[in-house]
Amino acid sequence: MSGLMAVFCSFCNAWGQGQIEPGEVWTDHAGRPINAHGGGVLWHEGRYYWYGENRPASGFVTEVGVEVYSSPDLVHWTDEGVALAVAETPGSPIERGCIMERPKVAYNQLTGKFVMLFHLELKGQGYAAARVGFAEADSPVGPFRFIRSLRPNAGKWPADFSRRDIRRAKRLKEADYPEWWTPEWRKAVAEGLLLARDVPGGQMSRDMTVFVDDDGKAYHIFAAEENLTLNIAELTDDYQDYTGRFVRVAPGGQNEAPTIFKRDGTYWMITSGCTGWTPNEARMFRASSVWGPWEQLPSPFRGEEAGTSFRTQGTYVLKVKGAEEGFVFMADRWNPKSLQDSRYVWLPLEFNEDGMPELHWKDRWSPAECFDTTD
Ligand code: GAL
Repeated sequence: MSGLMAVFCSFCNAWGQGQIEPGEVWTDHAGRPINAHGGGVLWHEGRYYWYGENRPASGFVTEVGVEVYSSPDLVHWTDEGVALAVAETPGSPIERGCIMERPKVAYNQLTGKFVMLFHLELKGQGYAAARVGFAEADSPVGPFRFIRSLRPNAGKWPADFSRRDIRRAKRLKEADYPEWWTPEWRKAVAEGLLLARDVPGGQMSRDMTVFVDDDGKAYHIFAAEENLTLNIAELTDDYQDYTGRFVRVAPGGQNEAPTIFKRDGTYWMITSGCTGWTPNEARMFRASSVWGPWEQLPSPFRGEEAGTSFRTQGTYVLKVKGAEEGFVFMADRWNPKSLQDSRYVWLPLEFNEDGMPELHWKDRWSPAECFDTTD
């Protein structure tokens, strides 16, 4: 099937209606540019819901909130309005002027609620707060009610840390490693220098995604430890808290913008390096369990501009509903001069003969032609 998929997708540059044009201005049903950056897509009862950062024409803070669009086909999008609005109350964690980034929504089968997790920075504090926000709604288009924000897993140690690992980590002190990137500092970071520092108050939580596995268990994957280390943390059955079980991926590896998907029992993660709004070369990881071990592999981007991931940074991998093996890699081409005008680059993931994911540039492609969407 993997070979077939690669061949099939080489015909994705199809003409006709319903095409995705990576990097172009995408408009909604009313002809307005879609404003949903750092987003994620949820499929629910026959429609796709795209949640993303509503960004102002200039400036870097959140003035509106999380916008939601819906579509039957991933091409034609209806603006459903603001899913989670900033608060007007001074002192609220989501007060206008905070920063809400990378929202992801999961539907919880047990509670019937839609749960949103997002990266939250508090007003006036730049990126220092490094928190995750939780919100919930009864409908996919909201309105979402803000529940709380926190730093994950306070008081907890990674699932794969032995008592000895914990004792060793507790002895590490930042003051003993004033210079970053030395071999000693790298070793200390891997052994838990920053992890241990943050255990009492919870781990830092910036770039993030949410992954729901086949068994309904959900995981929050986020950049912790000053963006040096990814954490994969299990959520409780209602998706509104942590079970306390988590692992670290690539300690000290500076991975951001995590995206994750599962295919034929293998988990894949595509991430970016850590260069702010400037694009860099993506990284890829593979594991046979969500708990790892995660093996690092080369970037899946191929061809011209692969070194900057086609000038993008990933945000989500969408499993196309009904398709046996259809996955869309969603990325942002950031424009820090006007974040609102940042563009969307969505491409079908292709799989080579060895089953390795690859991303090839396409000027335009049609999801209907690319994926078998018959359920
Ligand atoms: C990027 C990150 C974005 C945003 C930005 C701020 O590295 O992926 O989501 O946080 O930094 O500079």
